Amino acid sequence: MALSDFLTELDALLGEAPAAFGAAGDAAALEAARVQFVGAKSGRLKAVQKGLAAVDKADRPAAGKRFNEVKQAIESAHQAAVERLASASRPAAAARCADPTVPGDCRRLGRLHPITQTIEELKEIMGRLGFSVADGPEIEDQWYNFEALNIPADHPARNPLENFYLELGDGGRGTGDGNHGTAVELPSQHTQQYPAPRPHPPAPSFLLRSQTSTVQIRAMERMRPPVRIISCGRVYRPDTADATHFPMFHQMEGLLVDRGVTMADLKSTLRLFARSAFADDVHIRFRPSFFPFTEPSVEVDMSWADGWIEMGGAGMVDPNVLQAVGYDPEEYSGFAFGLGIERICARRHGIADIRELFKNDVRFLQQF
Ligand code: PHE
Repeated sequence: MALSDFLTELDALLGEAPAAFGAAGDAAALEAARVQFVGAKSGRLKAVQKGLAAVDKADRPAAGKRFNEVKQAIESAHQAAVERLASASRPAAAARCADPTVPGDCRRLGRLHPITQTIEELKEIMGRLGFSVADGPEIEDQWYNFEALNIPADHPARNPLENFYLELGDGGRGTGDGNHGTAVELPSQHTQQYPAPRPHPPAPSFLLRSQTSTVQIRAMERMRPPVRIISCGRVYRPDTADATHFPMFHQMEGLLVDRGVTMADLKSTLRLFARSAFADDVHIRFRPSFFPFTEPSVEVDMSWADGWIEMGGAGMVDPNVLQAVGYDPEEYSGFAFGLGIERICARRHGIADIRELFKNDVRFLQQF
């Protein structure tokens, strides 16, 4: 056979086979075309290959080389058709890759809740003033929430209607002998240093803490003066929710105990804090008040923008509290304050209703 005849047959295949593969609309049609052109037994390529032996011997290397090229081209055309059909069976994916007019997927970044952001900033500001961060549990017993804080058994602050008492373990009812504190197992030092609670009607022993002042006691029990701590966290009171109240809210507690601490230290610390927190020259106003664990006690107002804002309570740590943790009130004095974090956050961001902070509505939250 002349070389030219052999090459003509190859060229014909090179023209037909890829076209047939390209025209195949489904896997069955493609398979039929494959068998027709490159089938191992009776495929047309095989038939052409048989003619190779008949080509003149001198031309055979050139014929063989061209045969291999054509065979490879046909095989890759087949592979391309396989891939085309496979991607066509994933139309959604194919469209997403291919259609540049479809809007992209918008990745939304999460962010910290405004209260968390405020807490982080408060810690930072107070850290610069030398205060470290202390923590305490949200479920407390009556020693930490009341007794060590000089809140006696008959004090209205312990009223079950003012607190979220919990029924735990023994049913939360204490021993029924009329003492709130008896169901709480106190380390022996407590009972030695603090007079036994006065008799009163049985009441549950554990509660969701109503104030972060509990952490004052926990911190003082753990360390000797000088103490300089803040504690930020949730507190719980059965208040009806409105624009400025919520049954759960956050407080920042501050406590400083050392030799010779005075009310002037309290005022200047709060003023420095307010200047940093509100990035403005803020005035501090103290109004006489009463808390069982501070003497004297004050309400703290801060002036900002158009008026005075009530921020919380403060005062000089009551000697009974120092005694309850084994500090000598003749040697040490201290101040404490408790500020509402929602209030600070709301003032800084112009939030009119603190309930917004707890609805988990991303349209609100993503503004911060
Ligand atoms: N614990 C008080 C409250 O929740 C605030 C306070 C803290 C007052 C520390 C004085 C000292 O209302």
